[in-house]
Amino acid sequence: MEDQIRGIERAALSEIESCTDKKMLETLRIKYLGKKGKLTSLLRGMGALPPADRPRIGNLVNQAKTRLQARFTEALEQYEEAERQRAIANEYTDITLPGRRFWLGRKHPLQQTFDEIREIFFGMGFSVAEGPDVELEAYNFDKLNFPPEHPARDMQDTFYVQDDVILRTHTSPVQARVMEKQHPPVRIIVPGRVYRTDEVDPSHSPVFHQVEGLYVDRRVTMGDLKGVLTEFIHQMFGPTTQLRFRPSFFPFTEPSAEVDMTCIFCQGSGCNVCKQKGWLEILGSGMVDPNVFAAVGYNPEEWTGFAFGMGVERIAMLKYNINDMRLLYTNDLRFLEQF
Ligand code: PHE
Repeated sequence: MEDQIRGIERAALSEIESCTDKKMLETLRIKYLGKKGKLTSLLRGMGALPPADRPRIGNLVNQAKTRLQARFTEALEQYEEAERQRAIANEYTDITLPGRRFWLGRKHPLQQTFDEIREIFFGMGFSVAEGPDVELEAYNFDKLNFPPEHPARDMQDTFYVQDDVILRTHTSPVQARVMEKQHPPVRIIVPGRVYRTDEVDPSHSPVFHQVEGLYVDRRVTMGDLKGVLTEFIHQMFGPTTQLRFRPSFFPFTEPSAEVDMTCIFCQGSGCNVCKQKGWLEILGSGMVDPNVFAAVGYNPEEWTGFAFGMGVERIAMLKYNINDMRLLYTNDLRFLEQF
């Protein structure tokens, strides 16, 4: 019996030596150590031995099994290591391949414009306030002194959600919201989306963006309004840009002024962009109407203020010389990557 065990072990060892690959090795392992393998079968035949011999022989078989198993594992590792070495040797870096382009994101030109506007007003002590896009008619119109029959309230111009709920048509309702909550002085800008039932064309969109401004304190004058807006335009478009304040009308400001600046493309001599006028309309403004103060609970005898509102798309288009507003919404990388 002992001879048999030793014989099997020796045969197995020499067969392992003559193996040439992993597959052969595995077949061999099954042949000797598998369920029906040669050594395993020996263990199964133990019943035929005299009971006194069984522990010793069983022990011998198990020792042989353990040694063989170790040898198989070692041989397997050798094959695997050889395989790894071969793979490494076959691998190489093709330094002539073009590199992979690394796409760097950047801010959308509208966001850049927003950020620039914000920074300029931060510099003058304004802070940012926001309000809801879905707004009560009361804030969008009534508290801002729009009479009940004002044309802007028409379904033609405004998106109605319900009888008294609309998509805000401007950022001015946030003036009323802030003043209702906060005592003067107030010095805010309000960036946000606004909605009007306009058809899409190079200069219109049913959704666009505004930045509102509101300054309320004692003895605020139109001179303050002019000073702040002049400083803003100078920082935004250059210090030689000139401003013109044209009388205008808004229900929530009195007096009101439309602000024009000298055309930044022709310096005022007349070109396509300014339609030969030399001037570009840039924002609406005025002194806060006493009726608005009354509607939000400020005493119009004590407080005065100015407000202004500008279209962000318009500013961006002038600043970056973009001739079609739709370019700002279509997310064409060929366009966006220029900024
Ligand atoms: N809300 C006005 C508009 O959308 C702009 C504006 C704001 C005018 C504040 C005066 C004061 O046209």
